[in-house]
Amino acid sequence: MCGIIGILGNAPAAPRLVEALKRLEYRGYDSAGVATLENGAIKRRRAAGKLANLERVLAEEPLAGVTGIGHTRWATHGAPTTGNAHPHATDKVAIVHNGIIENFRALREELKNAGRKFSSETDSEVIAHLITHYLDKGQSPEQAAIAAVRRLEGAFGIAVLFAGEEVVLIGARKGSPLAVGLGDGEMFLGSDAIAVSPFTTRVMFLDEGDIAVLSRTSVKVLDADGKQVERKVHIFAGGVAAVEKGNHRHFMQKEIYEQPETVGRTITRYVNAFEERIEMPDFGGVDLNAESAVIIGCGTAHYAGRVAEYWLEQIAGISVETDIASEFRYRKPAFGKSAFSVFVSQSGETADTLAALRYCKDNGLKTLAVVNVPESTIWREADARLPTLAGPEIGVASTKAFTAQLSALAALAIAVGRARGTLSSDDERRLVRTLMEAPRLIAEALGAEPEIEKIAQELSHARDVLYLGRGVHYPIALEGALKLKEISYIHAEGYAAGELKHGPIALIDEATPVVVVAPHDALFEKTLSNMQEVNARGGKLIVITDAAGAAAVSEIAQHIILAPACDPFVAPLVYSIPIQLLAYFTAVHKGTDVDQPRNLAKSVTVE
Ligand code: G6P
Repeated sequence: MCGIIGILGNAPAAPRLVEALKRLEYRGYDSAGVATLENGAIKRRRAAGKLANLERVLAEEPLAGVTGIGHTRWATHGAPTTGNAHPHATDKVAIVHNGIIENFRALREELKNAGRKFSSETDSEVIAHLITHYLDKGQSPEQAAIAAVRRLEGAFGIAVLFAGEEVVLIGARKGSPLAVGLGDGEMFLGSDAIAVSPFTTRVMFLDEGDIAVLSRTSVKVLDADGKQVERKVHIFAGGVAAVEKGNHRHFMQKEIYEQPETVGRTITRYVNAFEERIEMPDFGGVDLNAESAVIIGCGTAHYAGRVAEYWLEQIAGISVETDIASEFRYRKPAFGKSAFSVFVSQSGETADTLAALRYCKDNGLKTLAVVNVPESTIWREADARLPTLAGPEIGVASTKAFTAQLSALAALAIAVGRARGTLSSDDERRLVRTLMEAPRLIAEALGAEPEIEKIAQELSHARDVLYLGRGVHYPIALEGALKLKEISYIHAEGYAAGELKHGPIALIDEATPVVVVAPHDALFEKTLSNMQEVNARGGKLIVITDAAGAAAVSEIAQHIILAPACDPFVAPLVYSIPIQLLAYFTAVHKGTDVDQPRNLAKSVTVE
């Protein structure tokens, strides 16, 4: 994971490195560091914890120089201490690394035996020593970097700074993304386009195995075979402006409140409102009239896929399999005669999701990406894409990206239904009209905030919380539990309501609140029986339901969170709002770091 920036510039590097790192904190934030060349010598500043700590260090001990590299870390090998923070350096080389070097133990032994001294517990430090080892043998920076990179196993995106070399910066990638930003007499390296966006809009994405040798005015790219190649330059306008919180206390709160707009924007992308039809972009050969589909993602994106599984089966009658990417990629899944695959990802960079996509491609499946970040790796590698238009999501806990994913997937379900002939035009029109109501219903659902805030205060004292849901609301219950544990650190589990009696019921006592997602739909009575079972055992029920449901649970629920009455098709979008607000306010009451919860990262680019 981790964020990387490299600058071969004409202005003081340190403030620019920090500026870029601010945009990269979503990749990790447990320590950060920068290195610049001061009169040709490598000088570093590093700090454990958030970027603000590094800024303090830099204020006390500024760094001069116009050439430098920077890093924000999500620890894999070695605790998040200052000593383990990047850049890692020798007297000749400084490096920043994103990924995992799998053969670092063997390399470390070899280099130690050759007399090199290590000062961190990281896998990354071997890269600095290995390059130095080849420089000591008289190789040029380019030769030494190439020789070292050839010996690295695992996944990496790296940027290398050389002492005494004001005119060259080297980047290499394998498994982890790396982009080159082309400026005006300046060059940049970044772990994504967002990193270099404050400095340039011209971006080149390196391919697997590429090594880029940068000067201020040129980029030489060598492919995995060492052959000089050209890579396309994209104009990247996104992410230039820093995203602000506005009047909100946290990004997460702002993002929750943006949802009427972001859902509206995403739906409009796929809906012809005039004809009340779904209009999909060019599908690049993906045949929606297939026998089956697989939907893959991680975390929240996986839960969006789980909701889509119900929609696709119910609306389009297609057999659907959903899985977590990290399981799917090693399962050796088999596919029927005709199938397409869908990959759901906010960042478009999640390593496991990307590997699953490549697995499907290798097995002849067409791939469709539901992605929020344009030009991300999953976006670029998929055969076709369904963009979600949530805009930059800063809060680590995903909210508006989730409902944007649901919006795009709902449109996809309708499109598949049409392609497979399971939906009449009238049915399609009805579903499209229903979908178009989602932004208004979400805005209404946000109105429950005062009640939710009160309930959250009580919930913040719980040690364990159960979330129950049935049918399409089972994945919403899973997402509710995930949100709560991510940001409040309260243990929470989501269960299918019908599964309660097969184990989790043993957990019910007065101290374990049970949040039930239960609109008054066709399955409500079934879920009501489960609520009775909880009530009979002294459990405290927090029921998220509509007016009809509220009337039915008024005797047994300790708290009711009222959601607007809505068509079952859009209910998952609407009921996402109260579960997000409940987690948000519980975390606020607990005083946790809502936008950057401990141990997590927004985008997980390692396995
Ligand atoms: C991380 C984030 C989650 C996110 C998951 C998948 O774990 O903390 O919020 O759901 O990755 O990320 P993606 O970018 O693929 O949607």
